[in-house]
Amino acid sequence: MKINKERVKRDIENLSSFNSTPGRGVTRLAFSKEDSQAREYIKTQMTKAGLEVYEDGYGSIFGRLEGKDKDLPLIMIGSHYDTVINGGPFDGVVGLVGGIEVARVLQENKQKLNCTLEIGAFNDEEGIRFGKGISNSRVLTGDIEEVELDTRVDYNGKTLREAMVEFGISPDLKASKREPGSIKSFLELHIEQGPILARKKKQIGLVETIVGYDIMEIKFRGKSGHAGTTSMDLRNDALVVASRFILAANDIVRGVGQGAVGTVGKIEVRPNASNVIPEYVRLTLDLRADKQTTLNKINYLIEEELVSIGSDKGIEVEMKSILSIPPVTMSKENLQILKDKAEELGLSYEIMNSGAAHDSMVMSRIAPSSLIFVPSVNGLSHHPEEWTEYSDIVKGIELLLLTSLEISK
Ligand code: GLV
Ligand code: MN
Ligand code: MN
Repeated sequence: MKINKERVKRDIENLSSFNSTPGRGVTRLAFSKEDSQAREYIKTQMTKAGLEVYEDGYGSIFGRLEGKDKDLPLIMIGSHYDTVINGGPFDGVVGLVGGIEVARVLQENKQKLNCTLEIGAFNDEEGIRFGKGISNSRVLTGDIEEVELDTRVDYNGKTLREAMVEFGISPDLKASKREPGSIKSFLELHIEQGPILARKKKQIGLVETIVGYDIMEIKFRGKSGHAGTTSMDLRNDALVVASRFILAANDIVRGVGQGAVGTVGKIEVRPNASNVIPEYVRLTLDLRADKQTTLNKINYLIEEELVSIGSDKGIEVEMKSILSIPPVTMSKENLQILKDKAEELGLSYEIMNSGAAHDSMVMSRIAPSSLIFVPSVNGLSHHPEEWTEYSDIVKGIELLLLTSLEISK
């Protein structure tokens, strides 16, 4: 059974044309015009591939290919097609296009899985627009509350629910939830987004653990004032304290070590004027580690730092958790199948962890789940120059295909 590289390349290139920042990487945020264009393309390709297409109450698109026994729990292959701002052309779409290609190749070869195959296309994984990601999978597992739709807002103050309704979706979280046991396995093919496979010259990464993930929002409230007339000793400058915190958080994460990483990647300053002392800062802190104990330790030190830094400078500090997911071990049974199939295909592979979060991390709550990596050139991702060779993507799809056939047995 042969994967058609040109067809895979065409789909990935076409999807990257639905982009609000041409020439500056790919930007396709959830429930945007580009999302809508991509959806039409995905649905068309799924239909052409002979899949029965339907959508759930969060806007996930599914293409269904019935197996020999349609009453068996199904195999789902899926990933996301939204992007970060000025991202690359491969993050997410590789797993979706790979899934559609698996369905095409099965049919071209008159092969059927024993169970039904569903290809899932998710549009709100990165969480850029509404600040909290891996949403479509959280909907499937029932880990999202109605209140999230009314409290998450974008940069224009539009709520998630308003944006969805405007987009033509009537959110229905309850109806979209999948029952544990209804999915035999969830498989996600993704680019590595890091340097390990390229450095070790391996073709495939088989993920054992996806690191735990804590995103928090921290607010600093000081006092505004005239930048020319307020002497330095009379200021409650929220930005100065926030800046001290950013450096301290960096030191804390480095100090704890154990492979943990921490990033302040988003910051809002008010009033954000050159001649006014900053009165308010809101920032996000994204922490990741492969052990919950490491995350707990960092969290403790961060809280301690916030208490002392705020009271020291007369700044009110408030912290709240946005998203917290413990480290996840992927299906051991599937991992053995993946190793066997990689060997059968003559592919070199590396057993590794994922530092990035993925929908398969959430899906593992209700189904045995696996994450397969293909190499990222120079380890670069979330960057316009993100690149993966199409020949490597084809290898990943071959593995996806053989693994699906084996799991469905
Ligand atoms: C998803 O891309 C993440 O933030 O890991
Ligand atoms: Mn990403
Ligand atoms: Mn991704």
